[in-house]
Amino acid sequence: MTAAEIRQQFLDFFASKKHQIVPSAPIVVKNDPTLLFTNAGMNQFKDYFLGNRKAENPRVADTQKCLRVSGKHNDLEEVGVDTYHHTMFEMLGNWSFGDYFKAEAIAWSWELLAEVYKIPKDRLYVTVFEGDAKENLPKDEEAWNEWKKVIAEDRILLGNKKDNFWEMGDTGPCGPCTEIHVDCRTDEERKQVDGKTLVNNDHPQVIEIWNNVFIQFNRMKDGSLEQLPAKHVDTGMGFERLTRVLQNKQSNYDTDIFTGTIATVENIVAKKYTAGDDKESVAFRVLADHIRAICFTIADGQLPSNTGAGYVIRRILRRAVRYYYSYLGYKQPLLHQLVPVLATQFENVFSELKAQEAFVQKVVKEEEDAFLRTLEKGLKRIDDIINTTKEVIDGKAAFELFDTYGFPIDLTRLIAGENKLAIDEKGFDAALSEQKERSRAATTIDTEDWVEVLPTDKISFVGYDAVTAETKLVKYRKVNIKGKAACQLVLQSTPFYAESGGQVGDTGVLLFEGEEVVVTDTKKENDLIIHFTEQLPVNITGVVAAKVNADRRKKITVHHSATHLMHAALRKVLGTHVAQKGSLVNDQYLRFDFSHFAKVTDEEMAQVEAIVNEKIRENVPVIIKSMPKEEAIAMGAMALFGEKYADEVRVVIIDPTYSIELCGGTHVGSTGELGLFKFTSEGAVAAGVRRVEAVTGFAAEQYVNEHFASIRAIREQLKNPKDLGKSIENLQSENSDLKKKLEKLEARQLVALRNELLQKDEIINNVTFIGDIVEVSNADALKKVCFDLKTNLNDYVAVLCANIDGKPFVAVGISDTVAAAKQLDAGKIIKEHIAPLIKGGGGGQKTLATAGGQDVSNLQQVIEKVKGLL
Ligand code: ALA
Repeated sequence: MTAAEIRQQFLDFFASKKHQIVPSAPIVVKNDPTLLFTNAGMNQFKDYFLGNRKAENPRVADTQKCLRVSGKHNDLEEVGVDTYHHTMFEMLGNWSFGDYFKAEAIAWSWELLAEVYKIPKDRLYVTVFEGDAKENLPKDEEAWNEWKKVIAEDRILLGNKKDNFWEMGDTGPCGPCTEIHVDCRTDEERKQVDGKTLVNNDHPQVIEIWNNVFIQFNRMKDGSLEQLPAKHVDTGMGFERLTRVLQNKQSNYDTDIFTGTIATVENIVAKKYTAGDDKESVAFRVLADHIRAICFTIADGQLPSNTGAGYVIRRILRRAVRYYYSYLGYKQPLLHQLVPVLATQFENVFSELKAQEAFVQKVVKEEEDAFLRTLEKGLKRIDDIINTTKEVIDGKAAFELFDTYGFPIDLTRLIAGENKLAIDEKGFDAALSEQKERSRAATTIDTEDWVEVLPTDKISFVGYDAVTAETKLVKYRKVNIKGKAACQLVLQSTPFYAESGGQVGDTGVLLFEGEEVVVTDTKKENDLIIHFTEQLPVNITGVVAAKVNADRRKKITVHHSATHLMHAALRKVLGTHVAQKGSLVNDQYLRFDFSHFAKVTDEEMAQVEAIVNEKIRENVPVIIKSMPKEEAIAMGAMALFGEKYADEVRVVIIDPTYSIELCGGTHVGSTGELGLFKFTSEGAVAAGVRRVEAVTGFAAEQYVNEHFASIRAIREQLKNPKDLGKSIENLQSENSDLKKKLEKLEARQLVALRNELLQKDEIINNVTFIGDIVEVSNADALKKVCFDLKTNLNDYVAVLCANIDGKPFVAVGISDTVAAAKQLDAGKIIKEHIAPLIKGGGGGQKTLATAGGQDVSNLQQVIEKVKGLL
């Protein structure tokens, strides 16, 4: 069976058990501050488990793109070294939200593996939670008994909390789990060592493939477990491992999920993958694995960057570059050449990559280019370090290589070893944890547990039609954001728009029986709408009057509608490759990032602006409809990559032939409300991504007024000429004529000055000495006079000082003859004797040097000092 067939069979099996098959959520997580990336299939269903929301369908199944490279589940260092861990992997899962429980989940997983996929039963083992006295958790008798019905009892093993109690993160839904392991060793090996003893022992051939979690608890901040209102099933099967078992391979990388990529790498580097433990084999596996994580996160809208999720991608990409650079001897960008292989392979599963193939390739190539340059610099730096090190490379230097040049410690260790040097590992670790602590302190948000005031499973947003509402407090929690205490409140229904889709969150007030609590921001956390306040009201159970700052909301709304008009116009003018890559909509302006490979010219910007303003003048009504997603897409609605859409979507239509977008934001009634649209800037943000900023409504009026005011001011300064442009042109040409004249005059003046200086010479020990404080307009002129003395003098030393606009400048000139005979060096004189006197610095040649400084009071002393040297 091909991998594609295996995946399909899983989905078909659960569809036959009345499960709804849903799409994978984006791999990059939005609206959940506890996660950067989806790390398990259940993430997108977290709210169903916690009871914040009721599932529309109590049974679903899917294949989910997951990434385990940060936070609680982090496999990065294993990847490529072994044959069965991955950065990005597909997790096949089936879920019950308060519907079926252990009996069905266990029976179906057995039916699928043993009967449908026909994995030999004598190769399967299962583990069951043994209980944990400290947590007061009993042994999972129910799971044990269910398993007994289908599998020999000696193949059921007990497991501890580490292996058989699954938790999503430090807090959140969790519960006991039962895992299914497969023994893939040869019959010979199986005879020699009982497979049972190898389960959960990191044996590369005896591996876990499926985890069935029975979610019953919520892990609280203080570590305690709270019983959830309902019991749920959450399962996850590693698709790559399953495929390897069913295709009878020794390694995930030998399945058709990876062989296409590996063959492409073989062609590029002209080497063969030997599937061993050597560094070269590891490098092949690292590339085949990492390119998937890189491609799918970028396709889901996360660009590599220096912070957060973007930094994780950057680190994965750099790890891959280091591997091909160091172990495959390939010094050119390689990863971007693999993008097409994956785009085609996953065309029918995760089509977002094919749809953005050229864009993803461009981003990857640019990152590779930049890192290869850094790597070269780093190698030079490490050479310098090695040359100046006797035995042990300083921990700080190793950290600098890591932090600035992206050299992980193992690479530095390797290069150090080759040069018979060690590394001060302790010093490195100390510098590393210091840095971690710094970034942790800068970003921590410490949250307490929620305190429930009013039980509810439905929170509603009523702010599309109103900016006020009467409501009640559902729950609250205390938080500490960067050392400042604050509060987060959840209301039963709210007119406050929570930041999403680029639109900023609303601000306003909440009146708790007359007590005013200011809302400083509104954000989403999964499906909760969270109001940020500075304090908790005294009366938390009464009626709450919620009031959004309506003026601010209006200013935000016009910018959101303008974003849609502009998006459509950009696609008309630049082409349909334009796809949104980021957006910000607030009360001051809109910012929009989009894929496009060249600068948007002034003409193109003007065309877009004209189209948008034409649409504003047409005063097109904005129609908002709710409809099934398929219907919306069929209508031509623009959906964004990396966005999670429900089956029923909100569609914003501004002239059905012009702009149809899936959007949850707030919008005007008709486009005339925008008044005017003006771009304020255009530029690049990353490879293949342009950024424009624009204003509309009141902000546009203000922008235009400011511009007119400054033009008016300029006009007035120029005495209100008829033609302003001509007048400025005249001014410029007059200015340049004057400059030329001034230069001529100055040249003449310098000749006069030189003649004057030549009169003032003294002879000291057979050397002509000239020292004077002169008047010149700039440092270059001073230097020139000093240099020109050469034409009239033979054996001389000159020191010329000037006070130019309150700053001291000095030039020292010495003839070759004197420099040689008296061992004098103008540069040294400047550095050693003059710089301290004028509180400055400078330098130059033996025969001519200059300095500038801060203190003009010692210029006479400067002259005496040089004279003294003679
Ligand atoms: N959520 C469970 C896991 O990720 C199924 O293993």
